[in-house]
Amino acid sequence: MAEFANPFQGNVDRKLTKEELIQAVRLDISGELEAIYLYDAHVQATDNEIAKKIIADIRDEEKAHVGELMALLRILDPEEADHFASGEAEVKELLEELENEKKESPSKKDDSGATVGSLIK
Ligand SMILES: [Fe+2]
Repeated sequence: MAEFANPFQGNVDRKLTKEELIQAVRLDISGELEAIYLYDAHVQATDNEIAKKIIADIRDEEKAHVGELMALLRILDPEEADHFASGEAEVKELLEELENEKKESPSKKDDSGATVGSLIK
């Protein structure tokens, strides 16, 4: 987080190496995720419809920034992009397994079997 009281904090005396740039982008992504979390908390914490609408819009713009930075990270570090793709493929596999399980036993429910009726005494 920037220290706004320090007017020299933003000054740099050299350019980032590629590895430092990759780390900086990761830090930028974490900042965007933190912003999304905070904006979303503020949306949830107010009943003011105007504030909800505007802050939610800003929150969603931050989500687009995450996408931009992730795309940049994939360009800067193709090996890391391979790891992302590997994780995405694992999730797709798990989703396919779930779909196949549903097809094999259509009466099986997604949850633990609890229904609204089971909560009523
Ligand atoms: Fe942003």
